[in-house]
Amino acid sequence: MDVSSDAPTADIPEADENELSTEATAHRSLDRAVARSAEIEADLVRDAGAYRVLTGDRPTGRLHLGHYLGTLANRVRLQDLGVQTMLLVADYQVITDRDDAGPIAQRVRDLVTDYLAMGIDPGRTTIFAHSAVPALNQLMLPFLSLVTDSELRRNPTVKAELEASGGRPMSGLLLTYPVHQAADILFCKANLVPVGKDQLPHLELTRVIARRFNERYAGGKTVFPAPDALLSQATNVLGVDGHKMSKSRHNTIDLAMTEDETAKQLKRAVTDSDRHITYEPERRPEVANLLLIAAEMTGRAPEEIAAEIGDGGGGGLKKLVTEAVNERLRPIRTRRRELEADPAVVEQVLAAGNARANEIADATLAEVRSAMDMVYTS
Ligand code: TRP
Repeated sequence: MDVSSDAPTADIPEADENELSTEATAHRSLDRAVARSAEIEADLVRDAGAYRVLTGDRPTGRLHLGHYLGTLANRVRLQDLGVQTMLLVADYQVITDRDDAGPIAQRVRDLVTDYLAMGIDPGRTTIFAHSAVPALNQLMLPFLSLVTDSELRRNPTVKAELEASGGRPMSGLLLTYPVHQAADILFCKANLVPVGKDQLPHLELTRVIARRFNERYAGGKTVFPAPDALLSQATNVLGVDGHKMSKSRHNTIDLAMTEDETAKQLKRAVTDSDRHITYEPERRPEVANLLLIAAEMTGRAPEEIAAEIGDGGGGGLKKLVTEAVNERLRPIRTRRRELEADPAVVEQVLAAGNARANEIADATLAEVRSAMDMVYTS
């Protein structure tokens, strides 16, 4: 590490600067996060009411099976356990790595439709878009004062996103969006954030910002509690081509697909020439992935499903997977179509969620102003 370029600003003590992971400490901090996450997972069942969760998605397209198994089903589980949940439609975050946000309004409505269809209950979960919550965005200003440019530049997730954006120069928003994400989490004082490993650097930055704010601007009083990560234990399913399930690869199975579209998509799935179906993730990754999808959809073991298909080959496997997916998603899709037929419902849910998020954000910003002695009129 180039120490000279990482020199802390005058009033950020060196020890504090070192709180953020360098590559050397990343492993240790991952181990810590895994252990802490397991502790919290056990406590959640006992004391759900003690937690406020914030999670969210960028509205970049329709939700698919990868999202469903990776994060969505778990959100519904947390909600149903009685955890207070804030669900963010991260619309400003769409423009971190692309010039064109696409048909953003439609995508926001689609995302909320997907949420409601799969069991997010707006009576218990606040669904909101961060562009609709001015006070949340205003927190970005004091928060930006708490981080250095070198801390921002060494965020491994931002670096990876820059590389993936195909020679695009780093925009100010791409560099600073982890600070915006800290505002997403801290505006509502969430103490738990369900994340994948790629989001851990952002969560670590959020913890540092919370701590520095309390020390520097609030005289050591806890205005912002430091949130913990809840690491997902979900099975990672791949797309029908055996690669990471992602919209840009056209290999997804979307919640919004019809049963025929699902069958068509699965017909394209890559398998191999051995007609005898076995579950061997190392040797037969594509076949194993399809078995895993069927297993996740039915709650059965992949080995048992393989044995049942036996010599049925790729065709038999795809047929079984298609039925399993369609059966599991049927109620979600039915609900989805009902919601699409009545767009006012989604709009009302978003309006109510935005209003609630604004109440919370206004209260937090008032507290921040007062901590920073920036209240000039009564
Ligand atoms: N970065 C997240 C993603 O791409 C979305 C997100 C925005 C988020 N703000 C957040 C997730 C705050 C957790 C907490 O999926």
